[in-house]
Amino acid sequence: MRVLVTGGAGFIGSNFVLRAREVRPDWQLTVIDSMTYAANRASLEPALSTREVTLVEGNVADAQLVDELVAANDVVVHFAAESHNDNSLDSPWPFVESNVVGTFQLLEAVRRHDRRLHHISTDEVYGDLELDDPERFTERTPVNPSSPYSATKAGADLLVRAWIRSFGIRATLSNCSNNYGPRQHVEKFIPRQITGILEGTRPKLYGSGRNVRDWIHVDDHNDAVIAILEQGRLGETYLIGADGERNNRDIVTMLLELMGRPTDWFDHVNDRPGHDLRYAIDASKLRRETDWRPRYQDLRDGLAQTIDWYRANESWWTDAKVAAERTYARLGR
Ligand code: TYD
Repeated sequence: MRVLVTGGAGFIGSNFVLRAREVRPDWQLTVIDSMTYAANRASLEPALSTREVTLVEGNVADAQLVDELVAANDVVVHFAAESHNDNSLDSPWPFVESNVVGTFQLLEAVRRHDRRLHHISTDEVYGDLELDDPERFTERTPVNPSSPYSATKAGADLLVRAWIRSFGIRATLSNCSNNYGPRQHVEKFIPRQITGILEGTRPKLYGSGRNVRDWIHVDDHNDAVIAILEQGRLGETYLIGADGERNNRDIVTMLLELMGRPTDWFDHVNDRPGHDLRYAIDASKLRRETDWRPRYQDLRDGLAQTIDWYRANESWWTDAKVAAERTYARLGR
């Protein structure tokens, strides 16, 4: 099977490529990635130098390039997206271009060439929950995005659903909770704090730190994507989550404990405008319809493995760290 992975040099996409190479060695993998700040060639080594994976540099909003690549593959797994909320508040256009226009171009190519598509999305399209809300997000929750980022992802999801319904394309969707693990850009919460602690700076908590995220290891997310590709029903949406709800303060405490620092060694900084309070996923449908089960059951173990990776791969992140912290300094966070 020839598989086109959009955004395959970013965090979740590159982990997908590495995981697929391990568990589905017969797949032929091609990556299209715009190679902007969030991508890193090194994430795909050694698969690139051995030519097991082909990397094409380009934007999913480039209709002609996307058409050629879709035509040359059997399946498209669409990870490519601008994904950082803080950036979407600062500069929304790249989010509209990659997430909405990019998905549109991909859908048109998939329709023309009758290819199988899996579209990757986020639980953030559902808005946020109260801390004591008894219901978690399900596939039936109405979309209600809060930020330019989540609004563009919701827009992309709706386009995919319309192309399924109106044009009969063969597609599935998934909306996943917050990912953590190796190769995540250092602008994101967990790697920002890990790399900061390694450099001797205190973690930074937005606002009170009581915001809750539902954490899943990136390999568990990608295993679920493979399960949906192979066992999911066409036209369906699946929520992916591993029952990993924690507030940000608890995550910082865990990281400090694992890294041998006092648990009060952190600072509160300015809150993010419109900051979503809580995300939580009910993944019963995925568990009912596929044999997927998360392998990382203990968040502390997953975080320890992630810390080890950042410790061992400093050259992967040092340049990006300087740039990310310069942006945060400008935003006062
Ligand atoms: P983030 O990794 O940006 O993901 P998302 O906004 O998509 O959930 O942030 C995760 C949580 O961590 C979110 O509640 C914002 C918070 N946060 C901090 O407290 N400090 C930080 O330095 C960052 C980057 C995020």
